[in-house]
Amino acid sequence: MPSPPAAPVAPPAQAASAPITGTVVGVDLGTGTAGRVDVSQKAMINARADVNQLLPLKYTWAWEKYLAGCNNHWMPTEVSMQADIALWKSTDPATGLTDAERTMIKRNLGFFATAESLVANNIVLAVYRQLTNPECRQYLLRQAFEEAVHTHTFQYICTSLGLEAGELFNMYREVPSITEKDAWALQYTRTLEDPAFRTGTPEADQAFLRDLVAFYVVFEGMWFYTGFAQILSLGRRNKMVGIAEQYQYILRDESIHLNFGIDVINQIKIENPHLWTAEFQAEVRGMLAKACELEIAYGRDTLPTGMLGLTAAQCEQYMYFITNRRCAQIGLPALYPDTENPFPWMSEMMDLKKEKNFFETRVIEYRTGSGLEW
Ligand SMILES: [Fe+2]
Ligand SMILES: [Fe+2]
Repeated sequence: MPSPPAAPVAPPAQAASAPITGTVVGVDLGTGTAGRVDVSQKAMINARADVNQLLPLKYTWAWEKYLAGCNNHWMPTEVSMQADIALWKSTDPATGLTDAERTMIKRNLGFFATAESLVANNIVLAVYRQLTNPECRQYLLRQAFEEAVHTHTFQYICTSLGLEAGELFNMYREVPSITEKDAWALQYTRTLEDPAFRTGTPEADQAFLRDLVAFYVVFEGMWFYTGFAQILSLGRRNKMVGIAEQYQYILRDESIHLNFGIDVINQIKIENPHLWTAEFQAEVRGMLAKACELEIAYGRDTLPTGMLGLTAAQCEQYMYFITNRRCAQIGLPALYPDTENPFPWMSEMMDLKKEKNFFETRVIEYRTGSGLEW
């Protein structure tokens, strides 16, 4: 004889007394007041819609970037370091690395080795909590993983070349031009890492925008680019081709990170025009000018005497050019009008479809042709 159906199990008393609430989860399951998501209620910040319901999508650009990121999957260990190791160890003055090249490589790696962690921590500990949209959070989860892959890359380079880990991973504490950049950015993430921080007032929402500018526009959109140009310049001369190939993959990832950040900032501006005051715009321009100045100092530090095909003066001009582009992307006038791009070859470096076999290393296998637009 079949046993009678079991009586429904009463939910623990705790569930009713401690509903899941707040911006982190974004819904009160205990009272059932959230209801089904109306797409018009979705918003970048301070959303009223349930943040656990991905569909219906409102911001298709965020979902498309998530798909593009997945299609670009790669791992640093798939890139051969044999040629780099041989060159790094070579003492042949004719074919080996010059002292200037070695200084540049070390300081370049020294910045990136910890920068990727700073960016990852900002996503996970500061940005994710305040961005109240599920498709944007889906992208942030992908981006966080990519930052882990990038940190892995520097661990892999460090161990492959036999570099001193303590020296490399402490440069952000010990090399003043790197310390100054990181300290500048950290002041913005610290505000948001305070557990009591919440968006919802004009002041707090502007603080969130400052963090997005500092990390997406400045850190990933400006400060990575001197480093990319330096290593890719070496790669073009057939030096450190393994690192150069890895930087190409990182650059491809970072281009999407940057564009996501730009879209987030611009969408918040559209939804909250009261935040984008003339005073605040002037402040953001000031942030970009300061960031540019810090990067120029770092460029001089990495290339005190210049190297074949690359000087600190060119890096400076490149940073003016990049700063202008970032200003334009968030709707601000150029800080350094009429600056030409001294490295036109960089735009080709970003297009891996064109330069697929440039370094004659491994063919890119992960990209599935989702139609990346640079
Ligand atoms: Fe990264
Ligand atoms: Fe990034």
